[in-house]
Amino acid sequence: MPPSPAPAAPLVVALDGPAGSGKSTLARDLARELRWPFLDTGAMYRALTVVALDRGVGADDAAGLARLAQRIDLRYDPATGRVWVDGVELTGRIRTPEVNAAVSRVAEIRAVRAVMRGHQQRCAAQAGRMVAEGRDMGTAVFPDAALKVYVDASPEERVRRRVEEMRSKDPSVDAAAVAESIESRDEQDAGREEDPLRPAPGSVPWPPADAQRVARGDPGGLPAARALILDTTTLAPGEVLAAVLALVRSALPPAAPR
Ligand code: DC
Repeated sequence: MPPSPAPAAPLVVALDGPAGSGKSTLARDLARELRWPFLDTGAMYRALTVVALDRGVGADDAAGLARLAQRIDLRYDPATGRVWVDGVELTGRIRTPEVNAAVSRVAEIRAVRAVMRGHQQRCAAQAGRMVAEGRDMGTAVFPDAALKVYVDASPEERVRRRVEEMRSKDPSVDAAAVAESIESRDEQDAGREEDPLRPAPGSVPWPPADAQRVARGDPGGLPAARALILDTTTLAPGEVLAAVLALVRSALPPAAPR
């Protein structure tokens, strides 16, 4: 019997960037427009953090956290972004201030990252195509992604966006506390040894003015590079989406769903 062909590598659009850069909004909008599944990898690290807090495993107990990551049954639904651990849905509990404060420390442990990487790669392999969002999508989890975009914005703008988003749910949110939380997570995510937050190797800047031209339908601003750094500070969410959508469509192989 002839050997069965190796499964085709999944088609991945990899989006990385710091908190408040606009990458989550972009990832969701892009997945909706393309009708592709969406992988929110931060939700996986957050779900593990909820369980660690519940079970009293401290953020400084690397061995305990690694064991926990290996033992739990973590499920993520790419169609809805919902997460479960050992059959219990945790989606509504992953974005609390307690989880925000602990998650970066959980995510810096090498053995935890190895388990998460396995979950993420299996998810994409099962779906066949994926918009994947996180900190190490283009650098570690999907190094062969069809397109890698490192989404960035100035620290002031990132804080402003996050405050606006949080105040829509709770008008009493303190801007200084949000700034401090973002700054400390930036430091931990970019400064850690394991899969630090950074653009994929060989990434080139895509000037916002060129992205804006593409968003208006002018193909002259489409870059040839497939690993880009996009500063969204001066761009509206709709401009970011239109520009990256044009880029994805130009980067995909001809037969790919678009
Ligand atoms: O994207 P987010 O804010 O939900 O991510 C939560 C934390 O998880 C973030 O501080 C860093 C970590 N994370 C990571 O280390 N690697 C990923 N691929 C995604 C998130």
